[in-house]
Amino acid sequence: MVNRILSFGINGIDSFPVFVETDLSRGLPAFDIVGMPDTAVREAKERVRSAYKNTGLTFPVKRITVNLAPANIRKEGSVFDLPILLGILSASESMNLKTDDCAFAGELSLMGDVRQITGVLPMILKARDMGVSSIFIPEENRAEAEYIDGISIYPVKNVSQLLAHLSDNQKIEPIKVKEFQAGITCDFDVDYSEVMGQYAAKRAIEIAAAGGHNILMIGPPGSGKSMLAKRLPTILPPLSFKEAIDCTVIYSVANKLNGGGLVTQRPFRSPHHTVSSVALCGGGQNPKPGEISLAHCGVLFLDEFPEFSAKSIDCMRAPLEDGKITVSRAKGSVTYPSNFMLVCAMNPCKCGYLGHPTRKCTCTQHQIDKYISHISGPMLDRIDIHIDVPAIAYKEISSDRSAEQIRQCVLEARRLQYKRYKGTGIYKNSDLTSSLIKKYCILTEDAKDALKNSFDRLNITGRGYTKVLKIARTIADLEKSDQITKLHILEAIQYRSLNKYGNNM
Ligand SMILES: Nc1ncnc2c1ncn2[C@@H]1O[C@H](COP(=O)(O)OP(=O)(O)OP(=O)(O)O)[C@@H](O)[C@H]1O
Ligand SMILES: [Mg+2]
Repeated sequence: MVNRILSFGINGIDSFPVFVETDLSRGLPAFDIVGMPDTAVREAKERVRSAYKNTGLTFPVKRITVNLAPANIRKEGSVFDLPILLGILSASESMNLKTDDCAFAGELSLMGDVRQITGVLPMILKARDMGVSSIFIPEENRAEAEYIDGISIYPVKNVSQLLAHLSDNQKIEPIKVKEFQAGITCDFDVDYSEVMGQYAAKRAIEIAAAGGHNILMIGPPGSGKSMLAKRLPTILPPLSFKEAIDCTVIYSVANKLNGGGLVTQRPFRSPHHTVSSVALCGGGQNPKPGEISLAHCGVLFLDEFPEFSAKSIDCMRAPLEDGKITVSRAKGSVTYPSNFMLVCAMNPCKCGYLGHPTRKCTCTQHQIDKYISHISGPMLDRIDIHIDVPAIAYKEISSDRSAEQIRQCVLEARRLQYKRYKGTGIYKNSDLTSSLIKKYCILTEDAKDALKNSFDRLNITGRGYTKVLKIARTIADLEKSDQITKLHILEAIQYRSLNKYGNNM
């Protein structure tokens, strides 16, 4: 008799249905799994056999063939252990299990316990889209399923408990849906008021946060660049429910949830400069999301920017434009979302003191050029705001606006954008497309003149032009101004004119 159990596989961050078909026939006892299984799926045989035995059941002495359909897509991981066991049980007719309109996913221990797996959240979302009424997941994955309604989700501890439920003996309690609460982001132990001076840098960071723009900070050692960047999460708006789900899906397939639930804090990733291009952008033999995808909806902070390998940095060029990255492998290609805010910090030269008011730079022109040339022109062009973070003078040592005050301004500006772009599919100024820029970036006459005058003088590129308009839009939003005035344009242009550090900039 052939039996069919619904389960789910993962490709990138998407889940796809897998039907686990089990056939028991007479003949020499054997246990085969077909349908493009990888090593972990093939090893399911041993786990299923032991779990079967240790749950007090007798493993059928028959020829068992398990097919994972569709057979042309590669199946990875241990999620099929549980559905394979159920398939054999149902096909052997030793138990009458109600598995219609249900989906199952879980790894088995040899003792028959159901263990944690990766990618549970996308599986649940796919099951709900398909109209499946119940899904059974490992108890250890319960936290990530707590906010999903529209489908009954049953957390399973072990095989005996599941069999009792499916044979109507003792029911498992489905997970109660929790209400999402946005805005619990205020408990940080750092604050912008701790950063003394650096008013221009703080202003630029406020603009970057308000419009979701990329920013590069350049300055001598100890001027507070890393300090400024690390305080960025304190002024960012809270995640919306959709953003929280999008982030959690990525963390779920990357196995970074560590048993935790929904990601409710905007991600802040700061990989070390020795990071490989695969770890940064994603991929590998069994593709996994990289740092740029883990920073989706949040911040990717690259401290000591020129120390990153040129290969790693250049890998980010396409995702910075598209908000997603496609990694191609022999086994197929996967796409991960990567719409993040890039924040970089660097010294102006190797010794760090180029342009310093009191200390002398000891680098030769060649060393300066070599240091800066690590970052390619196209990469630099993609960074919206370039800002100087100079050494602070003693008189500047006084406190300033707190993170909470800046955050309120940022939130207000984001609210304006959210309202303005409703229905267009974007939420912030940095995501504006060319046609939307035309519609929403309305310049006053003198603003147009100012932009025209600066365009040739500063060698602004076509991309730079749209970036100036987007930043000016954010500056106007911070002032609650509908039109973009000359002052807004001039401030925006100032953030794109770092020529003093050498020709390459
Ligand atoms: N503007 C500032 N206000 C208050 N403290 C500061 C400021 N700048 C630097 N500091 C102090 O100096 C320390 C080092 O600063 P930070 O790490 O931010 O420097 P940096 O600009 O990143 O330097 P580097 O280029 O060497 O990485 C901070 O931990 C802080 O204690
Ligand atoms: Mg630093």
